Amino acid sequence: MGVAKFGVIQAKLALLHHPSGSVLSHKHECCSCRSSAAQPRKPISWSLVCGLMLFCLGMISLFTGHVASDLECQRSRNFPDAILERSSNGYLLIGASGGLNQQRTGISDAVVVARILNATLVMFLLSKGFLINSCDHWKKPPYTMRVPRKSPPEYYLDQVLPILQRRSVLQLTKFDYRLANNIDDELQKLRCRTNYHALRFTKPIQELGQKLVTRMRAMAKHFIAVHLRFESDMLAFSGCYFGGGDKERYELGEIRKRWETLTDVDANGERRRGRCPLTPHEVGLMLRALGFANDTYIYVASGEIYGGEEMLRSLGDLFPNFYTKEMLAEEELKPFLPFSSRLAAIDYIVSDESDVFVTNNNGNMAKILAGRRRYMGHKRTIRPNAKRLGPLMMERDQMDWDTFLQARKKS
Ligand SMILES: *[C@@H]1O[C@H](CO)[C@@H](O)[C@H](O)[C@H]1NC(C)=O
Ligand SMILES: *[C@@H]1O[C@H](CO)[C@@H](O)[C@H](O)[C@H]1NC(C)=O
Repeated sequence: MGVAKFGVIQAKLALLHHPSGSVLSHKHECCSCRSSAAQPRKPISWSLVCGLMLFCLGMISLFTGHVASDLECQRSRNFPDAILERSSNGYLLIGASGGLNQQRTGISDAVVVARILNATLVMFLLSKGFLINSCDHWKKPPYTMRVPRKSPPEYYLDQVLPILQRRSVLQLTKFDYRLANNIDDELQKLRCRTNYHALRFTKPIQELGQKLVTRMRAMAKHFIAVHLRFESDMLAFSGCYFGGGDKERYELGEIRKRWETLTDVDANGERRRGRCPLTPHEVGLMLRALGFANDTYIYVASGEIYGGEEMLRSLGDLFPNFYTKEMLAEEELKPFLPFSSRLAAIDYIVSDESDVFVTNNNGNMAKILAGRRRYMGHKRTIRPNAKRLGPLMMERDQMDWDTFLQARKKS
């Protein structure tokens, strides 16, 4: 059994062989609310429309689990025993790059590719320039190739295997999302097993994460984790306006200049089209509208937040029992502070354990957590549909809270 230690993730990969066993394909449930989204003529019916939309959102989110994960997995704990392979077609070198969750996806895919090729997998961390396995005994740099994105297993067999066999050491570069989503059930099962069972956070991270969960649970039986992405670059890139006045327009405008190809966009139009991330305040409003009382305990998982504490306070005002990792652990968090991916890992653990997980984005962490929570089979995830909520939030500014809530209740 090989144990690979990454800064954050540790993997027990003892499962390169995977005999048969069936996996049911996992279809996405969709609920359409188109009928309620028809444009009304009279202004008065807006509140009704908003209410209906909100109601639909609630239904979608709460009852069908409005989640979309790249990784479709059928839950299982009955895995066949690992079978030792006695022969290998060569060494496959793959680097894990990017943030925490991109690395996680990369590692899971790499294990599957190694399985497809019957290769010996050597993984290393690109971002740190750190080799997990010492590769000194390869005298010359390995032959490298880059496979197209989302390649199917056949591509690996037809195009990569011959090269691996000829060279015996092959490095696949830029290995992000290089394996198709739709693969054979057995291979998918291996991918899920790697992602959800084999990959673990290192002990100090796991322990602190669990401590924070315990501290939340000591205060409340149930809590909601809100995963917010609200970094200045991301906001600037969106071209949206978030209510911060001239200061915000100037600051985000300056950042936006970094991307020379970006043209000016109409911030209101973007919002109406649902292209703007929900602000912390809007996420709070949505939760309140969904019926979560103001005494609900909230854990906020986030990195940099544009507008900092003030921006977060707009959520804290709606839910006074509001916590972050910094509030729950001061001294203990210090060793992790220089490493953003370790901090993200701590948020990941608390979010995973929460009773309800809410996110304002569709990034890697949101996707992986949504998938994992569904895989584990008992936890609710709410991912607001910005396309539907964006216009609703705009209208909300023009009606008072009671109308907003009542519209929702009436529907
Ligand atoms: C890998 O090994 C299995 C049996 O252990 C075999 O069925 C399969 O054809 C091999 N694949 C390759 C690409 O060598
Ligand atoms: C929470 O809501 C209740 C009514 O549902 C209200 O009486 C109370 O003042 C609110 N608390 C805060 C801190 O807003």
